[in-house]
Amino acid sequence: MIKARRQLENVHSYEIPSFTRKDKIRLDLNESLFGCSPKVIEALREINTTDLDIYPEYDLLSKKIANNLSVKKENVLLTNGADDAIRIIIDTFIDRRDEILIPVPTYSMFELYSDLCGAWIKRIQYKEGFSFPINDILQNIGTWTKIVVIVNPASPLGTLIPEDYLIKILKKAKDSIVLLDETYWHFAGESHSGLLKKYKNLVIVQTFSKIFGLAGMRLGFILANESLMPEINKVAFPYAVTYPAVVAGYAALNDKGFIKEIVKKINIEKEFLCLNLRKSASRVHQTKTNFILADFGLKSDFVHKSLFKKGILVKNIGSMPLMDGFLRITVGTRKENKILIDAINDILE
Ligand SMILES: Cc1ncc(COP(=O)(O)O)c(C=O)c1O
Repeated sequence: MIKARRQLENVHSYEIPSFTRKDKIRLDLNESLFGCSPKVIEALREINTTDLDIYPEYDLLSKKIANNLSVKKENVLLTNGADDAIRIIIDTFIDRRDEILIPVPTYSMFELYSDLCGAWIKRIQYKEGFSFPINDILQNIGTWTKIVVIVNPASPLGTLIPEDYLIKILKKAKDSIVLLDETYWHFAGESHSGLLKKYKNLVIVQTFSKIFGLAGMRLGFILANESLMPEINKVAFPYAVTYPAVVAGYAALNDKGFIKEIVKKINIEKEFLCLNLRKSASRVHQTKTNFILADFGLKSDFVHKSLFKKGILVKNIGSMPLMDGFLRITVGTRKENKILIDAINDILE
């Protein structure tokens, strides 16, 4: 067999489900169970052949994103989802053996892309009670630190980091990139894009996969100081984002009421889910995102597997630091949440 490059020997690929999830209750990947704006579907229906036979243009959507987040168009780069954005930033700034500082537990793609580049990963563990390890992070930032990763709201913890912590990190890591993943920010109500003007080392990634209900479109973006863009553009694929994704993203941003409506629905359902799960789980974390955490202790693997058999998918995150016994559950519609709660009660009876 022809050998792949040596660096891949210790890299574990992200496992995507090999079965169809469409006919299941899918509470495992934090997608939106509330769909996208009807305006997106309308706009997609209007696409015609002359739109599709040329390479996509990104100017209008980049400007719209920039206006919404009070940055310049030059600060925006569209990407094929936030995953692509993370890959681009790590690939742009990490040389072999450079240090990347990652608070854990976290989203797996940071480590995967870091491993691909041969980075030296320094994991800093969140504290018991899920508090952010600010002092440990500040102490560990040095001249050798190339990237500091922050996910806010955190995943899978679902907690928020105060802005003054972020500023402390940006100041201490002034010669490093602070990579801020804001995938879930709409659920918590605050983006820190306002800090981009002042801190040239801040790079933010966002996505249309969660609140906008467009995970299937694969659309995300990078926000960064314009001085970083020429290098970032060397790593980004020239046409990574498709024309339908651009149309969908633009229409999604035009529907101003949609986000408020979804956040409201998710908050009501989150409350309902947590209230009911507290009867069967020993700990339930409501979180600032579209998912919750429920601790089933020694029974968590059993609950996870039994739910799977019933066609209900949730994520077993028990092997992550601090997550022993926890299942991560995406907030569904009332119907889905009720089915889940009944199923868990049935399993634990
Ligand atoms: C923290 C975090 N970052 C990035 C992503 C990737 O999002 P996208 O679908 O835009 O690639 C996810 C997906 O679940 C996530 O949880």
